Order: sequence, then C-alpha cells, then structure tokens
Amino acid sequence: MIETGIDIVEVHRIEKSIENPTFIRKYYHPIEIEYSATSINAAQHFAVRFAAKEAVRKVLLSHIDKLSWTDSWIENDENGKPHLQFSENILKQVHILSSSVSLSHSKDQAIAIVLLDVKPFYAKATKGRRKT
Ligand SMILES: CC(C)(COP(=O)(O)OP(=O)(O)OC[C@H]1O[C@@H](n2cnc3c(N)ncnc32)[C@H](O)[C@@H]1OP(=O)(O)O)[C@@H](O)C(=O)NCCC(=O)NCCS
Repeated sequence: MIETGIDIVEVHRIEKSIENPTFIRKYYHPIEIEYSATSINAAQHFAVRFAAKEAVRKVLLSHIDKLSWTDSWIENDENGKPHLQFSENILKQVHILSSSVSLSHSKDQAIAIVLLDVKPFYAKATKGRRKT
C-alpha cells in the first residue's frame, strides 16, 4: 500500500542545532553531512533532510518498532534529484517496494513529502493467530 508522509521544519531551529557536532552525528548519515555541510546554505539542506526523516517516521512508525534517525537518509543523484535510502534495520522489519521523495527549502522553511509503497511482514504480525 502506498502511504504518504509530510513534514515542515523551521530552518532557524536547525541552524542553531547544527552548531553542535553531537546533534549532527545523531541525526544525519555521513552522506547527508557531506552534502549539506559543504553547501553555502548548509542549514537549509540539513533542515530539509530533517523534514524527510520526520516524514519517513510518519509512515514507518505504524509498521516498525525501532527506528533511529540515521536509518533513513537522502542521496542526491547527478542531476540533484533526491532519493531515499534505508538501512538494514528498516529493511529487515518491513518491505519497501518503492519510494519517492520531494524536497523544497527557502530561507525560513524546509518541507519534505515522502511516498512509500510498504508491505509489512504479515507472517510476523499474525503469528499464532487462529483462523475464524
Ligand atoms: C530542481 C529545481 C526545480 C529545484 O527548484 P528550486 O526552487 O531551485 O529549489 P527548491 O528549494 O524548491 O528545492 C531544492 C531541492 O530540489 C531537489 N532537486 C534538485 N534537483 C532536482 C531534480 N533534478 N529533480 C528533483 N528534485 C531536485 C533537491 O532535493 C533540492 O534540495 P537539496 O539540494 O537540499 O537536496 C531547479 O533547481 C531546477 O530546475 N534545476 C535544473 C535542473 C536541471 O536542469 N538538471 C539538469 C538535468 S535534468
């Protein structure tokens, strides 16, 4: 089933947070850090990636138990188009048949919308249930 997640983040909040290296390491994958930190508008790139993580959580937290902030991340292709990536921790808990993400950011706000085609591992969820 295709499910949608969306989130909006105030850039100024992330701008303060990213002054702390511990925050960056906790929330961002190394690929995201490399992409964002080297940009002129670093806070905007970090903020929109945070929004993408929240959007992913809105979909996945109803399917899986454990999800850390670095379990999903954004990689940009050679045209700049963003693609969602998922860790083994996610992929062992749920089938993600396909995914799509779109990002936009301005000086003040960053927004992400995520579409995930999710197929839960029903065998696990229904283990032990009797047929009626
Ligand atoms: C892609 C484009 C529409 C972005 O619009 P914008 O108003 O400048 O920027 P927004 O804030 O709305 O969005 C920025 C995000 O767009 C996304 N983006 C960039 N290029 C993209 C593309 N080709 N396809 C889809 N999304 C893209 C990125 O995720 C970017 O955020 P990030 O750098 O933090 O990852 C614009 O830059 C554009 O038209 N670029 C030309 C692309 C092009 O000609 N590519 C050549 C080969 S197709």
